[in-house]
Amino acid sequence: MNHTTINDSGHLEIAGVDVVDLANTYGTPLFIYDVERIRSNARGFVSAFEKQGVTAQVAYASKAFSSIAMLQVAKEEGLSLDVVSQGELYTAIQAEFPKDRIHLHGNNKSLEELEMAITEDIGCIVVDNFHEIELLHALLEEHGKEMDVLLRVTPGIEAHTHDYILTGQEDSKFGFDLWNGQAEQALMRMLGMDRVHVKGLHCHIGSQIFETHGFVLAVKKLFEALGSWNELHGFVPEIMNLGGGFGIKYTDEDEPLPLPTYVNQLVEEVKVQSKRFDFPIPEIWIEPGRAIVGDAGTTLYTVGASKHIPNVRTYVSVDGGMTDNLRPALYHAKYEAVAANKMLEPKNETVSVAGKCCESGDMLIWDVDVPKLESGDLLATFSTGAYGYSMSNHYNRFPKAAVVFVENGQHQLVIKRESYQEVTRLDLPYERL
Ligand code: LLP
Repeated sequence: MNHTTINDSGHLEIAGVDVVDLANTYGTPLFIYDVERIRSNARGFVSAFEKQGVTAQVAYASKAFSSIAMLQVAKEEGLSLDVVSQGELYTAIQAEFPKDRIHLHGNNKSLEELEMAITEDIGCIVVDNFHEIELLHALLEEHGKEMDVLLRVTPGIEAHTHDYILTGQEDSKFGFDLWNGQAEQALMRMLGMDRVHVKGLHCHIGSQIFETHGFVLAVKKLFEALGSWNELHGFVPEIMNLGGGFGIKYTDEDEPLPLPTYVNQLVEEVKVQSKRFDFPIPEIWIEPGRAIVGDAGTTLYTVGASKHIPNVRTYVSVDGGMTDNLRPALYHAKYEAVAANKMLEPKNETVSVAGKCCESGDMLIWDVDVPKLESGDLLATFSTGAYGYSMSNHYNRFPKAAVVFVENGQHQLVIKRESYQEVTRLDLPYERL
């Protein structure tokens, strides 16, 4: 959780800033990021690798939360960057992120995306499929350029997480399969291309993972494939990218491992397997998104209407919902909440927090203990820093919320609240045809 305290007025403070003041200044719904928490999460990964004495890159998976200010913080912390679209790449360039530390992902990269990656000279492309290999080859020829790539493989591992966030299992839209020869075929094709430099493998086994077994197994499977490819084609990996997926705490039910534990287990297994196959220890890259920004974010809402159904439940509606946090509706994700302006009052009511959208499934929390809430009170949900703003949407034509950074008792707006004019800015009037 981020650096929260309660002040004498009974208000929640984050990084020394009273959130009631933030609501008065910026309005609600409001995303509040504790910058120091982002930094300490980043440092947790970076220093764990340093202690292990291996060469590593910690690439922030910007899909979790991409904005110019966020990427500036990632840059300051010496992170690399994982982008999965031209929009994320464009944001990185706007943030003046070092291009040689940007890695492009995607299972259906367009010609324009690949072209931008090539002309901007980004560090690496994580190649996902045969179609992309040929597009990349043609573009590199056309531009007279070369590119480092990683081969994304699907190791056939089912990490223990929600079905929809599994990405490394056998039946997956991502990457080249290890078990049916496709990965080897892709490697061979690219080894024959002068302008493409295959540096190693990439895999990502899932998200919000609380154990290390899946990661360790993935490393083992990747090395076993590499061992046989080395015998056949003499290929030696320089980089192993093991993706993201490190779990965080949303509620007391979640028990994530300390960040260094994930890193230590990964490094240990890479060392064991390198020795087994007689490879020099490759650079180890990881791509945490959620574990960098998730617990640094809090969303602040204003309470509006309530509906009490005797002997059933009390619905308390807030001014946001599935437009700023799709995760409960999409994954049945659970969150904790507090009454941010009544932190010292006894929690003597159990309510369910409803969003504002015209959809019964727009519920943020089922059953949370709070003090008696009235219209105008502020409700804060924790750990909303990852996949909250980044998955926010315009359902019911709600404008996107604002985002503010807090640090050392100061606050700064980093994404403006959208206006209604901006919501309709792309609309054109109908003209009878
Ligand atoms: N690398 C790759 C290739 C990925 O596909 C992902 C996430 C990550 C890294 C970062 O994973 P993280 O460390 O954040 O778990 N919208 C879902 C999560 C989807 C994750 C997709 N890929 C959610 O809200 O839980």
